[in-house]
Amino acid sequence: MMSSSKDSCTAAQGQPPTLAPFQRLLADLRDVLGPTSGIDSEEVDEVKLQELMRNYKSCEADWEQFALADSASNYTRNLVDQGNGKSNILILVWNPSKGSPIHDHANAHCIMKVLKGSLKETRYKWPDHSNPGPPEVTHEQTFGQEEVTYMSDKLGLHTISNPDPSNLAVSLHLYTPPNAANFGFCIYSRESGKATLIKQGQNYSEFGKRVKTAASL
Ligand SMILES: [Fe+2]
Repeated sequence: MMSSSKDSCTAAQGQPPTLAPFQRLLADLRDVLGPTSGIDSEEVDEVKLQELMRNYKSCEADWEQFALADSASNYTRNLVDQGNGKSNILILVWNPSKGSPIHDHANAHCIMKVLKGSLKETRYKWPDHSNPGPPEVTHEQTFGQEEVTYMSDKLGLHTISNPDPSNLAVSLHLYTPPNAANFGFCIYSRESGKATLIKQGQNYSEFGKRVKTAASL
């Protein structure tokens, strides 16, 4: 569990007082994702999902129970919710100066909100497998607390990293459909662009309980 600055969180105006804002966000995301019938990525209203993520004001006391850190890994993946079976909602805790490999998003929508600290996104072109080499950077941007960004395979590949040399960063991620969890995703060599399939299942915790040692991706 992270050390916390026990913010006092107040329910948003008009929200039921019994539902904390973070739980309200999860409930609202489930509502947008709809009932448990089939869904594909074309049916997702990603703009509405981003708006909900943006409207939630991060409060550490809300989500710290899910934000398990591990100093031995670059970052941890902590499962928070499965959104009627249509999504994976994860909290990722990033160690100082650590980041992810270059990866794709398994033909799913990815929405990320920074809950604490800041995170740098570096985007890349899809590698040309007929011409191996380092994937070409197309865009870099650093997002601060409360900021939300969207990513999909249509926009290329990316890495996420914590630029702060001293402090953890924490982010909330919504993946829908949960293709990476169900079928895996690929990471890409920084030298050659070569893809390697990663079978998912590397959650450090699920619903606030530690499940396994995280892989050091
Ligand atoms: Fe990503």
